[in-house]
Amino acid sequence: MNSIGVLTSGGDAPGMNAAVRAVVRKALFHGIKVYGIERGYAGLINNEIKEMSLGSVGDIIQRGGTILKTARSLEFTTYEGRLKAFQNLKNHGIEGLVVIGGDGSFRGALKLYEEFGVKVVGIPATIDNDIYGTDYSIGFDTTVNTVVDAINKIRDTAFSHERTFIVEVMGRNAGFIALEAGIAGGAESIIIPEVPYSIEEICQKLIKSHQRGKLHSIIIIAEGAGSGIKLGELIKEKTGFETRVTILGHIQRGGSPTAFDRILASRMGAMAVDALREGISRGMMVAFEKGEYVLKPLEIAFSGKKQIDLEYYRLADILSI
Ligand code: F6P
Repeated sequence: MNSIGVLTSGGDAPGMNAAVRAVVRKALFHGIKVYGIERGYAGLINNEIKEMSLGSVGDIIQRGGTILKTARSLEFTTYEGRLKAFQNLKNHGIEGLVVIGGDGSFRGALKLYEEFGVKVVGIPATIDNDIYGTDYSIGFDTTVNTVVDAINKIRDTAFSHERTFIVEVMGRNAGFIALEAGIAGGAESIIIPEVPYSIEEICQKLIKSHQRGKLHSIIIIAEGAGSGIKLGELIKEKTGFETRVTILGHIQRGGSPTAFDRILASRMGAMAVDALREGISRGMMVAFEKGEYVLKPLEIAFSGKKQIDLEYYRLADILSI
């Protein structure tokens, strides 16, 4: 393989830059030309393609976001859009493509392989950590740490004012961020879309802790499980406790990646290049499973729904009594 392309697509995630850096440097090390495609599939359609050098990825390993920029492209959901994208790849002589992103980005990559035979390798990168087939996606660890840091700060003021705080976190339809950050932040209740919950039980738990003298609490709600604002109103109505709601929003998507995310991104980026060098004959994804880096067919990402570890969820409940 003489020439590959790399793009980032979908919601950005801290560590994407470290992955781009790894792809570019590993490819150049092996004498393979690398093209950076800007703005994801939108840029591929609009021919926003430039050759990358060793220096073009200097000083980015520590930066959040993505230097290649990212977008969600409507045009790419059409066959005509994908045909334009394929023609641009062909015109540049790009023989293999590394797609760094979430499941929407992987679906696009799979289409390029199925319709035009493009050799694609997906690198999972999403703060939601909801890609089936990999234990971790790039960005998740950094986001969990950002949320824990926010919870620590909120806990200071919750303690001082003896208030109940509801913290709404991202995650789309999944509760992985809420669960991990809730455990690490010592949240009193964690509400996630995967597990049905009862407002009555949550309020009873709060009342009992109040009776024991614990006058401040933190409740984490994943955005996919409902609205933090509504939950705050309901809790106030049912318990009479003073509540405040914080929606963490996009601060969860930014920031310098943790060492874990940088290493994950570096290893996955290098592995993706090796997969293309070794001449994969189909769409593949890189995954981190049970402590190992593995290559899998890209379709695996769509063959199931990633499950929450219910034991872990129960433990969170026990520890928060
Ligand atoms: O998929 C990442 C994510 O941050 C989700 O957690 C969230 O629901 C969504 O993207 C927000 O998207 P946008 O940045 O387009 O508002």
